[in-house]
Amino acid sequence: MITPALFPSGSAANSWWREGVLYQVYVRSFADSNGDGVGDLAGLTERLDHLAWLGVDGVWLSPTMPSPNADWGYDVADYTDVDAEVGTLADLDRLIAEAGRREMRVLLDLVPNHTSDRHPWFLDARAARGAARRDWYVWADPGAGGGPPNDWTSVFDGPAWTLDTATGQYYLHQFLAEQPDLNWWNDEVRDEFDGILRFWFERGVAGFRIDVAHSIVKDPELQSLDTHPGVHGVLRRWRKLADAEEPRRILLGETHVREVERMAAFYGTGEDELHLAFNFPFVYADFDARLADVVAETEALLPQTAWPVWTGSNHDAGRFPSRWCDRDEARTRLALMALLTLRGTPVLYFGDEIGMTEAELRPEDLRDPVGLRRWPEDPGRDPMRTPMQWSGADGAGFTEPGAVPWLPLGNHRACNVEEQRDDPASVLSFTRKLIGLRRRSADLRSGAYEPLNAPRGTWAWRRGGSVVVALNLSDQEARVQGVEGTVAASTSPDGRSHGVSGALTLGAWEGVVVENASP
Ligand code: GLC
Ligand code: CA
Repeated sequence: MITPALFPSGSAANSWWREGVLYQVYVRSFADSNGDGVGDLAGLTERLDHLAWLGVDGVWLSPTMPSPNADWGYDVADYTDVDAEVGTLADLDRLIAEAGRREMRVLLDLVPNHTSDRHPWFLDARAARGAARRDWYVWADPGAGGGPPNDWTSVFDGPAWTLDTATGQYYLHQFLAEQPDLNWWNDEVRDEFDGILRFWFERGVAGFRIDVAHSIVKDPELQSLDTHPGVHGVLRRWRKLADAEEPRRILLGETHVREVERMAAFYGTGEDELHLAFNFPFVYADFDARLADVVAETEALLPQTAWPVWTGSNHDAGRFPSRWCDRDEARTRLALMALLTLRGTPVLYFGDEIGMTEAELRPEDLRDPVGLRRWPEDPGRDPMRTPMQWSGADGAGFTEPGAVPWLPLGNHRACNVEEQRDDPASVLSFTRKLIGLRRRSADLRSGAYEPLNAPRGTWAWRRGGSVVVALNLSDQEARVQGVEGTVAASTSPDGRSHGVSGALTLGAWEGVVVENASP
């Protein structure tokens, strides 16, 4: 088990997650240690040196708990164990210890909105109306006509209610019928989860990414499925638990709302709810100079002491090199530059560092329930979940040559870590360089964000007193006035360090970081 000494204490314990870079590992797709085609914790541990070399400070693991995998781990059957396909508790302990040795921390994915329908709690709840855990889930009598209690629909299509024929009531599920929603008004549920958080904190987990953090608490009158303010009470409760640990632990919420104002509310006062809240208005914004508006709104609406999160890819929304950048490398570099130089914590998704794009899959390759339901209109989320491309070899360095990966490999021959690692002009070298700049510049890590006047199609800002970042998100050359200093990084692969005095000329889709930039 990890010793707390592996975490910094004192002020560093409160700043590592603000100043550092987080990295999401979709465990099943990262590294397979035993040739069964499924990524696992031992495989991830073997690859920690890559993350340390890149400059990552914390990894968030997609669900690692035992699951029947109706929704690939997001249907949990036991909250205090590890799924056999990804490893054992001992593997997780080893991962935490090995990460700690490299000064990296491990965050787990906590899924409190719903359990698996095979979780013993739900098996008990559905056994009888008077079952001990009946009230741990959300039950309702059939509606007037005998159908579902109301017209709520599941995020994954169809009604959000399924009839339990044995007991004659419907249970609520915002996602699949295999993912019954817990009743967060029940105090036993709250107590149970306090114990789950503590269990993992004791094992040295640095915090949690909280699934569906915006809507775990339901309207007790079942009038509206919109975010219910009752959720803030639960977040405050968890924040107290996290703050009581030495060193302190962190909560990163999947606050899946479309308005910055609603997202900002999940920080509470800035000190008493989530430490970090995913910014989906930013994730879903178009990749053009109007991104500056979302950033300005975020800067304006977050509580004074709250800290923003910037991300472009994840296992639900897609990969930004495809989504935002149309697979264009110049744009991909620009996006990386923005993510790593804004004021806030960047969360990279595995493969972002090499500009990995979404894969094209055949219908027979699909594993995600969303794609299986919606094909061909929507291929679902498998295209963004294909295995990490470590090399151009058979198996992509993800699994043994000849083994069948659980999802097909993408374009690993053209885009992989091995080929990019020693190429100074590669996307990987560029990503590492930006992270390195961030690590040695206090202004990039924590300096204030101040937008600069810049021509249409460009976006420029100052960080603290010494850094200017200028991006040209257009096809035309652009000039940004009033910048002085030295170009410390450029998106152009042959961009050399050079001085700037007065006017900065940017090529189409070029971005630069200028250091010691005076106004
Ligand atoms: C979150 C997860 C997603 C999952 C859903 C249901 O949105 O990120 O992958 O399908 O919750 O748990
Ligand atoms: Ca495996």
